[in-house]
Amino acid sequence: MPVTVVVGAQWGDEGKAKVIDLLAKEHPVVARYQGGHNAGHTVVVGNEKYALQLTPSGVFYDSVTPVIANGVVVDLPTLFNEIDTLTSRGINCDKLKVSTRAHLIFPWHQSHDALAEEARGDHKIGTTLKGIGPAYADKSRRVGIQAGAVADIDSFAAAVRQRCESENVLITQAGGVPVDVDETVTRFTDLGRRLQPYLCDTVNFLHDELANGSAILLEGAQATFLDLDHGTYPYVTSSNPTAGGACAGTGLGPRDIDRVVGITKSYTTRVGAGPFPTELTDELGERLVDIGREFGTVTGRRRRAGWLDCVMLRHAVRLNSLTELAVTKLDVLDSFETIRVCTGYRIDGKEVANYPDLPEVLDRAEPVYTELAGWQCDSTNARTSDDLPLQAHALIRLIEEQVGVSVRIIGVGAERDDYVLWGSQA
Ligand code: GDP
Ligand code: IMO
Ligand code: MG
Repeated sequence: MPVTVVVGAQWGDEGKAKVIDLLAKEHPVVARYQGGHNAGHTVVVGNEKYALQLTPSGVFYDSVTPVIANGVVVDLPTLFNEIDTLTSRGINCDKLKVSTRAHLIFPWHQSHDALAEEARGDHKIGTTLKGIGPAYADKSRRVGIQAGAVADIDSFAAAVRQRCESENVLITQAGGVPVDVDETVTRFTDLGRRLQPYLCDTVNFLHDELANGSAILLEGAQATFLDLDHGTYPYVTSSNPTAGGACAGTGLGPRDIDRVVGITKSYTTRVGAGPFPTELTDELGERLVDIGREFGTVTGRRRRAGWLDCVMLRHAVRLNSLTELAVTKLDVLDSFETIRVCTGYRIDGKEVANYPDLPEVLDRAEPVYTELAGWQCDSTNARTSDDLPLQAHALIRLIEEQVGVSVRIIGVGAERDDYVLWGSQA
């Protein structure tokens, strides 16, 4: 049926891109709906590894039209770098469509991002420094420049100059280095010309595709607990990755969506600061990082790691209307003797079932764990449920029971074909 949303159910990097690559076979249109080049979406095809920041993860199929919808903030240097790299590796990006309403990121956004992080001292968010927050702030302040502005390149150049000059006043006041106005205007005028053929009224495009019977896949970046409204504020990103954001970010309506796939690792990771109740700061955490290769796709930063948290996942079901889960990186647990799953929190001595709404309360949450035996064998060659060890069956069943939605896809390796359709028989 028509529209599927893929959303991260934790703090990002759950393996969304791999699942999107898999589902893209049945969805002729794949659209990114929020975020920008703070995302790092990895698809591994044979020996080739692709890390996408802006291009939708369906780009590897000729049958797919990739769309950057209105809710995305677009960094043109990154976009064209990515298009050039993909093209040089034999991936055709000619069908890519960029919404006229998507807002553009400029160098002054990156300067503001860095200055704001600097000013936070010991309370840094640990942003990707890509200018995402300041670009969305400009959109909200109604001073942003939309992609469609490049259609009239002279007035676009004038707008870039005017914005750059006025932002330089603020950057200088904050002790930063002003952006080179002439260089920026020249560079972005060239990039703007290059953007022209990709521009599209993506709202009407998506609705026309829907009317013509095409299935559409909406690709979330970041994740539920990095959501500006529902995440661990202020340690969040500046957009709405939750499924509701997919409507605002594409112009499709809530009733167009009928499938919402939440992606979770078989454990939890987080990059950047903020509360993390099941974090492991001991040797077990090190093992998850080492085996799971938990280093940021975009920034190379080491991710924090801990056990799976079903309190979070239950909240993710509420926030996103999840219809199913995909559990990735099951193989990372292959060598663990015992596996823990958080099924509740104890706060001030009392057990609570719901996810707390205040970060200071979340900071005091002590996880309540259910312990399972590990399987201690290689799961990476499993292709059906029957191939998975019984202990892994027990883990998946516990997740389903705790979270209240079915698991459909299980990841057992990074490569495109390393997955099990849960419930499938040999
Ligand atoms: P995304 O941002 O949610 O798309 O995820 P990332 O690409 O940032 O991070 C996920 C990482 O895990 C990537 O390096 C993937 O290649 C890798 N990956 C995805 N699924 C699996 C899996 O099932 N097993 C293993 N071992 N790696 C996986
Ligand atoms: P994908 O799509 C993990 C985190 C940053 C920081 C916070 C705010 O690959 O899952 P920002 O630059 O957005 O203002 O940073 O959000 N963050 C991510 N963490 N995966 C991501 O994207 C992320 N995008 C942003 O580390 O804590
Ligand atoms: Mg990522």
